[in-house]
Amino acid sequence: MYKTFFSLVFKRMDAERAHHLAFRWIGLAARVPVLRTFAAAVLAPRYEELRTEALGLRMHGPFGLAAGFDKNAVAIDGMAMLGFDHVEIGTVTGEPQPGNPKKRLFRLVPDRALINRMGFNNDGSRVVAARLAGREPVFRTVVGVNIGKTKAVPEEEAAADYVKSAERLAPYADYLVVNVSSPNTPGLRDLQATEALRPLLTAVREAADRAVPARRVPLLVKIAPDLADEDVDAVADLAVELGLDGIIATNTTIAREGLGLASPLSVVKETGGLSGAPLKARSLEVLRRLYARVGDRITLVGVGGIETAEDAWERILAGATLVQGYSAFIYQGPFWSRAVHKGLAARLRRSPYATLADAVGADVRKKP
Ligand SMILES: Cc1cc2nc3c(=O)[nH]c(=O)nc-3n(C[C@H](O)[C@H](O)[C@H](O)COP(=O)(O)O)c2cc1C
Repeated sequence: MYKTFFSLVFKRMDAERAHHLAFRWIGLAARVPVLRTFAAAVLAPRYEELRTEALGLRMHGPFGLAAGFDKNAVAIDGMAMLGFDHVEIGTVTGEPQPGNPKKRLFRLVPDRALINRMGFNNDGSRVVAARLAGREPVFRTVVGVNIGKTKAVPEEEAAADYVKSAERLAPYADYLVVNVSSPNTPGLRDLQATEALRPLLTAVREAADRAVPARRVPLLVKIAPDLADEDVDAVADLAVELGLDGIIATNTTIAREGLGLASPLSVVKETGGLSGAPLKARSLEVLRRLYARVGDRITLVGVGGIETAEDAWERILAGATLVQGYSAFIYQGPFWSRAVHKGLAARLRRSPYATLADAVGADVRKKP
C-alpha cells in the first residue's frame, strides 16, 4: 500500500518536500491520543526476545532511527509510535544554521538509495535543548543526541563548538554522539584523524560530565565508510584508549564508483553523501573490522543500507548491539520497523542463540 502511495504521491514530489509532509503527518498523528495508541499498537508490537540492554540503557529492541531524520527533536514520539526502539536526533550544531541551498536531497529510486547534501540544517543547540527540556514523552524510547560542527566555525575552534552543544544537550541525552563523518560540512571528516579526534572526544567527555555530574552520559563517535581500513583501526584503538562507549558505523559515502548504481548519471553525480542499499557492503565491512578489533569492549552500532530483518541480523552477527536505518524508511514507509522487528524475532528463534546478546559478533568470532 505504501509502495503505491510512494509511487503516486511522494515520488512525484521534491524529495525534501515529501519528507516534510510525511514528518508533519507523523507529528500530527502522535498528538492525537486515540490515533497514536492505535498506530503504536499496529506499528510497534513488542517482542520480549528482542529486549536489548546497551550503553547501560534498556530498550524495547535493537532497532533505531538514524540521525538526520529528526534533526530538531520535534517528532520523537511520532518515531517511537512507528516502532523505533531508539531515536537519534540531530545532527545539532552549536549555533543554528540553514544548511546548504536547495535542492539538496535526491532519490535514486532504482538503487533504493538517496544522495543528500543537507549540510546540517538545524535549529542549533540552544533551541533543541529547550525543546528537549520541555518535552513530555508519550512513548518510552531511548533518545540519542548527535552533535556536529557549525559550518561558520573554523576548524581550529571546532572542539569549542562541540563542547557548547554537549553542555547544552547532554542533560537530555540518553546517549551523545560526536559526528565527525558527514561529508557536507567542509573539513568535518578531517576530525576523524586521531590527532584531532583525541582532544575533541576528551573535551566532549569532560563537557558532558560537567553538565551532568550525576550520570555518566554514554559517548559515541560516528564514522564514515570512506575511511581507509587502517584509519578504522586507529579510531577503534582510540575509542578503547579513551574509554568511549560506542562507535556508530557508518555515515553516508562520497563514493560512487563500483557500487553498481543504476540511476541516471545526472543524479548519481550530485554532490553529497550516498545512503541506502549501495552502502550496505562497505558499512558491514567496517563494522566487522571494528568488532574484530574491539570485541565486546565497546558497543557497536551498525547503520548503512539496512533494509530488511535479514540485514539487521547480519549486522548483529557482525558485531552490532544496536542497528539503525534511515533511507529504507523513505522507500518502505510506516510498516518498516514492524517488519524488521517481526523478522528479527523470527530469525532469533530459528538461530542457535538464546538471546540477541549471544548473537552479537558471532560471525566474526567464528571466522576472525
Ligand atoms: C537526508 C539525510 C540526512 C542525514 N543527516 C544526518 C545527520 O544530520 N547526521 C548524521 O550523523 N547522519 C545523517 N545522515 C546519515 C544517516 O544517519 C545514516 O548514517 C546513513 O544514511 C546510512 O544509513 P541508511 O543507509 O539506512 O540511510 C543523513 C542521511 C540522510 C539520507
